[in-house]
Amino acid sequence: MQIAMFSTLILLGIVLLVSLYIITKTLKERLIPNPHLPPGSLGWPLIGETLNYLGTCLAGRPDWFLRDRMEKHDPQVFKTSLFGETVAVFCGPAGNKFLFSNENKLVNLWWPRSVKKLLKSSLVNVAGDEAKRIRRILLTFLDPDALKRYIERMDLVTQHHISTLWEGKEELKLHPTINLYTFELSCRLFASIDDPTHISKLAHHFDIFLKGVIHFPIYVPGTPFYRASKAADAIKEELRLIARRRREALDKKMESHRKDLLSHLLVTTDASGKLLSESEIVDNMLMLLFASHDTTTSAMTCVMKYLAELPEVYEMVLREQLDIAKSKEAGELLKWEDIQRMRYSCNVVSEVLRMIPPIRGTFRKALVDFTYAGYKIPKGWKLYWSPDSTTKDPAYFPNPEEFDPSRYEGAGPAPYTFVPFGGGGRVCIGNEYSRPQILVFMHNIVKRFKWDLLIPDEKVTYDPMPAPSHGLPIRIQQHQSTA
Ligand code: HEM
Repeated sequence: MQIAMFSTLILLGIVLLVSLYIITKTLKERLIPNPHLPPGSLGWPLIGETLNYLGTCLAGRPDWFLRDRMEKHDPQVFKTSLFGETVAVFCGPAGNKFLFSNENKLVNLWWPRSVKKLLKSSLVNVAGDEAKRIRRILLTFLDPDALKRYIERMDLVTQHHISTLWEGKEELKLHPTINLYTFELSCRLFASIDDPTHISKLAHHFDIFLKGVIHFPIYVPGTPFYRASKAADAIKEELRLIARRRREALDKKMESHRKDLLSHLLVTTDASGKLLSESEIVDNMLMLLFASHDTTTSAMTCVMKYLAELPEVYEMVLREQLDIAKSKEAGELLKWEDIQRMRYSCNVVSEVLRMIPPIRGTFRKALVDFTYAGYKIPKGWKLYWSPDSTTKDPAYFPNPEEFDPSRYEGAGPAPYTFVPFGGGGRVCIGNEYSRPQILVFMHNIVKRFKWDLLIPDEKVTYDPMPAPSHGLPIRIQQHQSTA
């Protein structure tokens, strides 16, 4: 009895000491600024400046969070505290360049714990040589050489989507419609899942997964993270079954290894001749669905928003796309060469990615203590970069609030100022893949329809990807020539 009481007292003592240590350290960090660390505010204990950040997201201007602090503290780097982490925010082209070019030297990619837990053995959970190995294998499906083979298929899926969800309609809500389209396209291109019932079953799980993947990782029934874990298990189980059937078909030479992403992953070896394990394949497929889905959906929805708001831009895109359409035989599908001719439309996509970048930045972690811009960056600190620190700066983009696709003509923006896909060793591997995907969609929609926004100036909010707050309802008119 006495021993139990004694142990409880010791335990209480330890808890008290640790709490005191944390409180003193937190108060000291907040009240006595260390001149060697980057300037900035750590906000409130635990929540830091998270509420200020979320407030700017709700207001539709997360870039204000950065720009205010760049002005107040230092335009090169400042510190803050977000989601329970002390973070140094690296700003401007020099900050982007520093983080992008020091991967595996001074910094490594870092994702919140919920993402790491759900995407287990995938690319986002590995660094160094292991990351290079997985990136190389994934890129055999996503680089321009491989992509050339998928343009026709993208075109076919888009035409099918339009005939089932657009034709004959007078009004529709764009964001949920495009959401369905991008998921269907990924199912078909990544794993040749063509059955609509199968696709909607997966879409249901995927929707739950997305709602909990960036959340507090509390594995308790009822929490978004718990539900996301269950949904991730269901999707992975489905993918595992498909992978096993495919492996058999490939072994019996009943399928081509070029069929889709899944076949690529099943047959592509690394430099030492080793194949990916089944868990690596399944985790990486879920990771690619995650990385590609909301980003592309957001970009396509915003393209549609700007084309509705800016009739002169719509007319230029229409002219370019009709020229391409006229140069083709009836029923002939789009090819890689046609995508190369969509120069103006491609610039429109770039300008949309500048105005409303789908990803507002990602994290790195300091591997060692180092100095940047005269400040000490302690080992273990989380480091953040964001396209927002340059893309709305008039020094790099004159009249930054003006939509101007001509910015990308000629030499285009200065290095490290236009970085919607990140950069360096961890640059987005879907960079080359997402542009044709958006352009094929634009081609098919613009040549058939014109549309008006039913809610003018609908606010775009961030959760965490940008999306119009009411789903962007539109009224559509089909062009006479295609009706
Ligand atoms: C408009 C669409 C997209 C945008 C704006 C976008 C943006 C980004 C950004 C900013 C990053 C972080 C880069 C960094 O930290 O330096 C990233 C990473 C990534 N993206 Fe994308 N992305 C898009 C579409 C896609 C697509 C279609 C795929 C796959 C088919 C994809 C796959 C990935 C992967 C796997 C990573 C992690 C790379 C790594 O950690 O090594 N993305 N993306």
